Amino acid sequence: PLTATGQLVGQAQANGTGVAAFNVITLEHAEAIVAGAEHAGRAVILQISENAVRFHHGRLAPIAAATIAVAELAAVPVAVHLDHVESRDLLHAVLGTGISSAMFDASTRDYAGNVAATAEAAGWAHEHGLWLEAELGEVGGKDGAHAPGVRTDPAEAVEFVAATGVDALAVAVGSSHAMTDRTAALDFDLIGRLREALAVPLVLHGSSGVPDGDLTRAVRAGIVKVNVGTILNVAFTDAVRAQLDAGPVVDPRRYLAPAREAVARTVAHLVTTIS
Ligand code: G3H
Ligand code: ZN
Repeated sequence: PLTATGQLVGQAQANGTGVAAFNVITLEHAEAIVAGAEHAGRAVILQISENAVRFHHGRLAPIAAATIAVAELAAVPVAVHLDHVESRDLLHAVLGTGISSAMFDASTRDYAGNVAATAEAAGWAHEHGLWLEAELGEVGGKDGAHAPGVRTDPAEAVEFVAATGVDALAVAVGSSHAMTDRTAALDFDLIGRLREALAVPLVLHGSSGVPDGDLTRAVRAGIVKVNVGTILNVAFTDAVRAQLDAGPVVDPRRYLAPAREAVARTVAHLVTTIS
């Protein structure tokens, strides 16, 4: 069933465990992620990023409606979240979609600019019953490059959460977006210090680059929401390529079905590692 993000994250935090959030690009991703989560018997978050909305010609409604419908039919609790939103118009477009949360990303602005934009977004979100995540200390690699080594400072994080009223904080602790190898080295000591300093749940971005054992360790150290995208794209695209290499194919279902199965297998494994 469709469940609120705040509820899933709150439960995970209370239980000292994690909840995985996977990026949805197409309907097949939503179906695959839910199939994997059902197979493992774990709750899951489906997240649609601003980049994914851009891919869908800038329109949130169609992919949101499909994703919500998949969540509603799921045998496990599934939340739907809007990820890495930089545009206020897109944030406001969640109203009426069934999406219960968003990550507002003003992390590339300076500290004062990030606080001002995030506080405004959080105020608006709370007026509309939405849960809001924000980021402090830019997690590297959104354009594919490796992390610049930026870290979230615990004292600044405490000040940022108090000044903005956000419900969760994405922290820079050594991971980097869009890694296709799992070689990221997390700063577990920093995760522990952030967890001690903050009451809000911590979010790990760029989790595709983190080895399995370190994902488990990160959750034990205090990460609650674990965002995963790229590793699913690797599974999806490898499966498509294998089908196309195997011989002449015309019907897209011939390569989309194995791709969806490959993503489901990856999700089933990761949700068990994380939650
Ligand atoms: O917000 C989404 C995640 O941070 C995904 O990162 O594609 O590197 O796993 P990733
Ligand atoms: Zn991210």
